[in-house]
Amino acid sequence: MGIKIAPCVLDADLTRLRESIAEVEEAGADVLHVDAADGHFAANLMAGLSLTRAIAECATVPVGVHLMITDPLRYAPAYVDAGAQVVIFHAETVDDLPDAVNQIKTSGVRVGVALNPDTPPQVLAPVVGRLDCVVVMTVEPGFSGQGFIEKPCRKIPVLRRTFGSGIDIYVDGGVGPETAPIVVGYGANVLAAASAIFRADQPPGKALRRLRRAAERGIMKSSDT
Ligand code: DX5
Ligand code: ZN
Repeated sequence: MGIKIAPCVLDADLTRLRESIAEVEEAGADVLHVDAADGHFAANLMAGLSLTRAIAECATVPVGVHLMITDPLRYAPAYVDAGAQVVIFHAETVDDLPDAVNQIKTSGVRVGVALNPDTPPQVLAPVVGRLDCVVVMTVEPGFSGQGFIEKPCRKIPVLRRTFGSGIDIYVDGGVGPETAPIVVGYGANVLAAASAIFRADQPPGKALRRLRRAAERGIMKSSDT
């Protein structure tokens, strides 16, 4: 299964948004990851609708929004209207997960559910076969630049077995050249990364390519064993 890279574009140089997006797209970004936080579910304020719309207007690859917000069903349609083609919300924020997935699917977008580090994978049992992606958080949601927590990665093999090879399993939080081979070894295939791409010791395009190479080494290693 091919590795996909999802740069967290809010960490790009937003004063030159179009160029920043073009740079990571040229380097092979598969989907742009736009983090949204409401100051309630996650203690940060990020990515309002107008910024999402501007990102979508500059993008040539799909835009995915990661809604770290208390009321995803209220705001998802507006993010779709702003150009999101993938909507990811948190399992912890809804009472009726199958109903939430169905409601968002009616907008015609791809749907994903994110799990906080301590949320067990079994909460997704009612939506097996209904999701396009699952996001395994390896930091508490809210801020880029946090340290990678490996323990949540133990959910990945369980999710892979349950959901099969057709689903995208993201890891989000602290993913960089050192941790990418680890998460890929557990069975993830999409790497969401902010710091490793936009705050690296090399320009974002080069940093993205380095991240992909590191992840591909992880695949080779896991197929050796
Ligand atoms: C965490 C966000 C992430 C974050 C990743 O709250 O969902 O997408 O920006 O940042 P890094 O890659 O720096 O951990
Ligand atoms: Zn995210």
